[in-house]
Amino acid sequence: MGGKYKSVLVLIGFVWMMMVVRVASNNYGDALSKCILFFEGQRSGKLPSTQRMTWRKDSALHDGFDIGVDLVGGYYDAGDNVKFSFPMAFTITTLAWSLLEFGHHMKSEYQNAADALKWGTDYLLKATSVPGTVVALVGDPYSDHACWERPEDMDTARTSYVVNTTHPGSDVSAEIAAALAASSLVFKSTDYGYSQTLLERAHQVYHFADQNRGNYDFSLEVVCPFYYCDGSGYMDELLWGAAWLYKATKDQHYWKFIVENIQYQEYNFAAFGWDSKYAGTNVLLSRLKSATHSPNPFVQYADKFVCSVLPESPSKSVSYSPGGLLNIPGESSNTQRVTAFSFLLLVYSRYMTRANNRPVECGNNVVATPSRLAQLAKSQVDYLLGSNPLKMSYMVGYGTYFPSKIHHRGSTLPSIDNYPKQIKCRDGDSYFRSTYPNPNQLIGAIVGGPDINDQYNDSRSAYVQSEPTTYINAPFVGVLAYFKSYPS
Ligand SMILES: *[C@@H]1O[C@H](CO)[C@@H](O)[C@H](O)[C@H]1NC(C)=O
Ligand SMILES: *[C@@H]1O[C@H](CO)[C@@H](O)[C@H](O)[C@H]1NC(C)=O
Repeated sequence: MGGKYKSVLVLIGFVWMMMVVRVASNNYGDALSKCILFFEGQRSGKLPSTQRMTWRKDSALHDGFDIGVDLVGGYYDAGDNVKFSFPMAFTITTLAWSLLEFGHHMKSEYQNAADALKWGTDYLLKATSVPGTVVALVGDPYSDHACWERPEDMDTARTSYVVNTTHPGSDVSAEIAAALAASSLVFKSTDYGYSQTLLERAHQVYHFADQNRGNYDFSLEVVCPFYYCDGSGYMDELLWGAAWLYKATKDQHYWKFIVENIQYQEYNFAAFGWDSKYAGTNVLLSRLKSATHSPNPFVQYADKFVCSVLPESPSKSVSYSPGGLLNIPGESSNTQRVTAFSFLLLVYSRYMTRANNRPVECGNNVVATPSRLAQLAKSQVDYLLGSNPLKMSYMVGYGTYFPSKIHHRGSTLPSIDNYPKQIKCRDGDSYFRSTYPNPNQLIGAIVGGPDINDQYNDSRSAYVQSEPTTYINAPFVGVLAYFKSYPS
């Protein structure tokens, strides 16, 4: 056998091995780094010298000036340039929970994740700095959505909208309280003073939410046409906020509120996302001890959540695509459910493991072990990272084949570095219609994802599929950290 021929064979064998390795295991560490980096692309305000996603620049430096409050900073929620506090706060709560449960697996990425969290909490402190008011959004969504503009170029009205005692918003306020309480736990060991500031504010904002009851979308009709109507009402946020404050303080006042309203937790066991928090509250409370309630009733409700998600369960209430992706029909940004549900499954799997490997029983002899829950979460992660019928990664910049025309203003338009002149409101249209890939990669962005038949349109106009959001990524940070440590 000639040497040349032999080395070709060795090379073919090597390439084949690489392919097998690639198929067998994703690089969860790489995906984790990118998943966290994404948040830098969503930053609003004055960017720090440590900014790594450098095609983004300072933007919205006068936010809040219309009401005399400094509201510079925070995150744009998705592909637009409005700062919606309600989904932003949920993003921060789930990012904090990711750090609390899985932070010890993050290693060198821990600081980046904590920085992403603090970018959010710094803003939430500003949004709640005036007692008796909570900022619900900044940026007139009508004029914002009528333009295709870079955040750095914005010339649309940056109106600040607040809820107050006469125009209340218990949902947005209690979600912010949850975010601040959860984050206070993250910073407790590294920055005690900041942690205490967050916790004190959480109490104060929760009190405001509880004492001035009402849906924020009744007070601010402007949010509903832009997706962020709180269809589930505010009780789920009051309960979720109380659960986080109870976890942070062990103050029995919060536990009492939860058990007095336990029927809400029992009926709505299957819902979890920026709009409805019930399943998350049950999973969180299932692990907390109380002197007054034994056995813990939330274990049973959290079990019912698991049985509503498991593909083999007789009480399953979600769908799965032929390729295996969890799907809630009629939803926008379906991957938000995939990442949020995977996170809860994984957290609950760990709680079950610690409870002597207790399995969940779903009836018809369907019994789910803790490892079955982790396995289901892993199948969802692997699908999103490329193990799917289209062999496509749904995270921008991960793998070799991923969405190239995401619905995102900043990503679609050239960077200030390459085109310093202002691109006015409708002058962005030609970039929107372009058949070329986006000039700036929003690394780590997970898009809304494929449809129930595993099909994906890589098109800016198909925003249900091609738009990223902060609350898709936030719970995924925790999920990826876990699989970075336990890849198989
Ligand atoms: C609450 O805000 C509304 C406008 O959204 C305003 O009309 C009202 O006067 C405010 N109430 C208080 C007590 O400041
Ligand atoms: C996706 O693309 C197909 C074929 O181009 C088209 O028929 C369909 O309407 C598109 N769907 C969306 C949501 O844009």
